[in-house]
Amino acid sequence: MRILLFTGKGGVGKSTLAAATACVSAAAGHRTLVLSTDAAHSLADALGGEVGTEPTEVSTNLWVQHVDAQLRFEQSWRDIQRYLLSVLDVAGVDPVAAEELTVIPGAEEVLALLEVRAQARSGRWDVLVVDCAPTAETLRLLALPEALGWYIDRVLPMERRIVKALKPVLTRAAGVPMPEDSVFDAIERLHAELDDVRALLTGPESSVRLVLTPESVVLAEARRAYTNLSLFGYRVDAAIVNRVFPDGGADEWRSAWVESQQRILHDAADSFAGLKIWTSVYRDREPVGPEELTALALETYDNSDPLAIGATHSSMRVSTNDAGPVLSLYLPLATQEDVRLVRKGDEIVVSVASYRRLLTLPSGLARHRVAGARVHAGELQIRFAEASPETSKETT
Ligand SMILES: Nc1ncnc2c1ncn2[C@@H]1O[C@H](COP(=O)(O)OP(=O)(O)OP(=O)(O)O)[C@@H](O)[C@H]1O
Ligand SMILES: [Mg+2]
Repeated sequence: MRILLFTGKGGVGKSTLAAATACVSAAAGHRTLVLSTDAAHSLADALGGEVGTEPTEVSTNLWVQHVDAQLRFEQSWRDIQRYLLSVLDVAGVDPVAAEELTVIPGAEEVLALLEVRAQARSGRWDVLVVDCAPTAETLRLLALPEALGWYIDRVLPMERRIVKALKPVLTRAAGVPMPEDSVFDAIERLHAELDDVRALLTGPESSVRLVLTPESVVLAEARRAYTNLSLFGYRVDAAIVNRVFPDGGADEWRSAWVESQQRILHDAADSFAGLKIWTSVYRDREPVGPEELTALALETYDNSDPLAIGATHSSMRVSTNDAGPVLSLYLPLATQEDVRLVRKGDEIVVSVASYRRLLTLPSGLARHRVAGARVHAGELQIRFAEASPETSKETT
């Protein structure tokens, strides 16, 4: 099953192009679901119909859904929340305040991803088109499954052991209710689901489409998105430059814009060299409804297959040269100054501007020391060397 994610700066046409792509996918005979993880109901606006929180069929082979993150939250977190509430109750926290304390920031968004997973695993669809929130939110969202998984992996087993050991003592002493196994089970289930979300969205049948308009600030954001999505292991395979002014017309205002846009298009081609780049004309009105969206998609994709996966790179690989093993992380458009590395035991923290990824080193490298690193040819390359006995205790 094919999964396409559309992201980009606010207002560039993500929902329009996601809906348009879904229209041509459905017309080609694929059972297609287009869903939005965004609270704004713009898919409904683009398709010009009513859309619910369950997949709604809008035409042959085409279903639309607005994920109700709140509803999902309540389904998945009921057990965990019930426990937290009981603890807060014993601690004397006012129930209304307690209710608020158990709402975890970002949790709702994660649950939007869980719904994407549920639909992907349902077997109902050939193609899933995901209309994501603007870039920064999408990145935060896509980084969450791994980050939460990491946390659960390390903290949970410890906590569970401690709780088991202390349960009789603590329950008597403080009157604090100990979490039932069902709480841990719920957390573990969530962990497995988050893992699966990541596996799906970074898997060989998924790719990200960057949507932008030909303006310098929008291009700058798209470039950063390309780097950061790659940092987290997501595969960007195409960029769509939307709302390009058609050539022609005589007045100065328009020709100045056309010229400026051509310059940005040129820069975009440089920035996304190796990716498929499509352009989409600024229409004389908002493309709304299946007919106009289909026309927009046909023109944009220009006889190429919008569902085909473009050339992608493996996110991470280990190779060996004369000096020793090298771990390479695909990180297009990053510069040496953007990237920070910190070694922590068998992990490496890679930061690019404000985004951070914790990489667990492959077991063959865990006992090596970092001998050097550089950003070269769109990759972060970290060189390793055998740790000598004296330096093997170093952590950074
Ligand atoms: N090629 C185009 N020609 C003309 N109008 C367009 C084109 N693409 C999108 N639009 C219009 O631009 C507006 C914004 O598009 P859209 O809602 O798809 O953007 P978005 O990136 O999803 O926005 P948001 O970040 O708010 O979710 C809409 O009114 C849409 O109809
Ligand atoms: Mg939108």
